[in-house]
Amino acid sequence: MKNITFINNKYVDHKNAKISVEDRGMLFADSIYELISVFNKNIIDLEPHLDRLKSSLKKIKINYKFNKNNFKKIFNKLIKVNKIENGYIYIQITRGVAERKHEFPNKYTPTTIIFTKHLNINKKVYEKGVKVITIPDLRWLRRDIKSTSLLPNILSKQIAIEKKAFESWLIDNGKITEGSASNAWIIKNSNTIITHHSNNKILKGVTRNTLIKILKKNNFKIIERPFNLIEAKNAKEAFLTSSTMSVLPVVKIDNYNISNGKPGDVTKQIMDLYNNYINKKKLLSIKELKIA
Ligand code: PDD
Repeated sequence: MKNITFINNKYVDHKNAKISVEDRGMLFADSIYELISVFNKNIIDLEPHLDRLKSSLKKIKINYKFNKNNFKKIFNKLIKVNKIENGYIYIQITRGVAERKHEFPNKYTPTTIIFTKHLNINKKVYEKGVKVITIPDLRWLRRDIKSTSLLPNILSKQIAIEKKAFESWLIDNGKITEGSASNAWIIKNSNTIITHHSNNKILKGVTRNTLIKILKKNNFKIIERPFNLIEAKNAKEAFLTSSTMSVLPVVKIDNYNISNGKPGDVTKQIMDLYNNYINKKKLLSIKELKIA
């Protein structure tokens, strides 16, 4: 099966997509990234992902000729040639190749990498829910930047996996910020939902923002504030969100069962609302086809 990757204005066989050992993304993680889901061949939340990409570039001061339409063309081409039905688009932009000095090079050409991956949705995980463990949040204080400097995130995720959990929820100053690669949510009663407010302590997830809009439209009460472990363990239900996982029920926090260790009704309702949202485009296009 064809697997084509975009690297610095060229479409190449994924195996031949290579960067220099002196690329600053490789030497310093001097780079940012985005990950955009594809469901039923549709790109989910394209605009907010591109907006966040642009904003991350600005926050780490990479000079970049940002052209939304150009990105859209590349994404569509890759989805087509790589035949992505369900999967994701990964974009990484680095400050380019330069002699290894910490300060920015005077002149540089950013490296742009865009590849796609197929993803198989494991329905059982959603039916059963997952366990999360809690550990200290050891990250820097600019977690709002989608930086590829992810060492604390991957170490936290690895601890979760070694403890037979799916994710780590990170604790900073007594409060849960987010997961190692997802946003964290708790449900207090049937219509009050709490998630950390967006500031420098979390990544403002695109899935999170979309879900907040959907939930508000459906008369849920959203409170954006930090919550602690006791509150989480006493929550009626809990879940996590990310572009790759959408809405995933959390049924155990450390060794404490949430909603009797099964996905609760409110979470199921939220999953349905989100799934309707990502399936909508497809349904619309089927309708349009029928009309035509
Ligand atoms: N991770 N918080 C962190 C630390 C993340 O890494 C992610 C996403 C999120 C959720 O953001 P979004 O809804 O925009 O995907 C929150 C991606 C999927 C990853 O690194 O693989």
